[in-house]
Amino acid sequence: MKVDVQAGDILTRADEAIVVNLFEGVAKPGGATGAVDAALGGGVTEAIRLGDFRGKKGEVLWLRPAGKIPAKRVLVVGLGEKRGFGIDGVREASAKAAQAVRDAGVKRFATIVHGGGVGGLDVEAAAEATTEGALLGAYQFTRFKTQRDDLKSLDAMTVVEAEKGKLRRITAGAERGVAIAESVNLARDLANLPSNEKTPTALAGMAAKAAREAKVKCTVLDDAKMRELGMGAVLGVAKGSNQPPKFLVLEYEGRKGMKPVALIGKGITFDTGGISLKPQDTPLGPMYEMKHDMSGAATVVATVCAVARLGLKVNVVGLAPLTENMPGGNAQKPGDVVTAFDGKTIEVLNTDAEGRLVLADALGYASRWEPQAMIDIATLTGAAIVALGRKCTAVFSNDRGLVRRLEAAAKATGDRVWELPIWEDYDDLVKSDVADVKNIGGPTAGSIAGAVFLKKFVGGKPWMHLDIAGSCWIHGNEAGIKKAYYPKGASGVPVRMLVQMLRDWSRGG
Ligand code: BES
Ligand code: MN
Ligand code: ZN
Repeated sequence: MKVDVQAGDILTRADEAIVVNLFEGVAKPGGATGAVDAALGGGVTEAIRLGDFRGKKGEVLWLRPAGKIPAKRVLVVGLGEKRGFGIDGVREASAKAAQAVRDAGVKRFATIVHGGGVGGLDVEAAAEATTEGALLGAYQFTRFKTQRDDLKSLDAMTVVEAEKGKLRRITAGAERGVAIAESVNLARDLANLPSNEKTPTALAGMAAKAAREAKVKCTVLDDAKMRELGMGAVLGVAKGSNQPPKFLVLEYEGRKGMKPVALIGKGITFDTGGISLKPQDTPLGPMYEMKHDMSGAATVVATVCAVARLGLKVNVVGLAPLTENMPGGNAQKPGDVVTAFDGKTIEVLNTDAEGRLVLADALGYASRWEPQAMIDIATLTGAAIVALGRKCTAVFSNDRGLVRRLEAAAKATGDRVWELPIWEDYDDLVKSDVADVKNIGGPTAGSIAGAVFLKKFVGGKPWMHLDIAGSCWIHGNEAGIKKAYYPKGASGVPVRMLVQMLRDWSRGG
């Protein structure tokens, strides 16, 4: 969907549909909605009076002006209660409106900036959220639908503003909203893609293309190079697959001389569990969902591209080991010992705990850039879902300041993070009898065991681990996030919060 910003009165628009909004419980609308209501001879007020529409969050009202104004249809979207309404309410309302317009079979529409007028929010932020919400909400993964005529999709949205003085800021906000939402939708596309279409080689190619378009430097290391570098942990996981592994390196420089922030993403393009084979149906879902076990890598690609598109004044390195975890004839076996990039030995007691293995090499390799902070993102453990459900991202860190940055960014983007502990004595979980460390703990504290394993490979650097096993995928069940801008499938979490964190970083220092 294309987005543009135009000056003018929404009342004079001749679009197939125009979108305005209403707070819950308002009997007599003001602002643009009031003007539309007046022009339609009180059509909105009447719907409210009849109890057909109350402005509840997520509620929509369609009106047909029948020539009273040039637009063919009017959509009023409910904003919910005014008390407590904020930027995330704008995203949700805009997502809902875009979906309603799309589902009505309309391809192009005009909208006001939600929350910018009566809502009282900063108009630039509101324009960003209006755009972001619409693009995120309208997202569909339709690549494999061959009956194109049956598909409903949006072509264009025009953000309309009557006050000329606001246009410059609305345009800036809308442009950022497009850059961020398109990046999130890229992460979604990558994670939704089935694994036959995203071998490590194919995924590396897609990442390289996205990087090129965003003007990000991209290098793809092959298995020979990884062997030369001593990435024994990634190579161990890759042994079970006929597909060669790849290692993705993305570099963006926005501030000369700044030590970069390293983003490191788990890129398992399919996780069968390896020799420790998963059942067809695990307690947490069917095996086919493991096509999204590269959501960490997708997050890294999308975040670095977004940072570049926004031109942030930060340096960012993105790393992602890409491999399948398969039980082939040459697969690594429980009890095998591998040597990671930093020289530490790992006893692989369960080949299904493969994410931490590939991240061990990547965290070690990151030291090459002397990063000021390392953030890994991984669909690491089912245990994180058991502990927290699917409504938030679990975070683990050795650095308070980093967590605070993330918490602030998550709040601003309407996403949630929750910190779990990695107190020193949890290290006991990964003590090995035969190697420096083992890749599983006992039956308890599974996501903490994953985190303390990773901590062994960060060399004391400020580091944060995001376990997105629950938050990166929307199932639509009771455990999951329910927001209009999160349609089913890949959510694109935590791209927006990481981009926000880096925005704050680029402003602060
Ligand atoms: N990719 C899985 C974790 C996962 C499970 C992500 C469900 C999303 C949904 C990971 O590689 C894995 O298999 N973890 C094991 C670790 C265990 C063997 C210590 C798990 O969680 O069972
Ligand atoms: Mn696994
Ligand atoms: Zn996995």
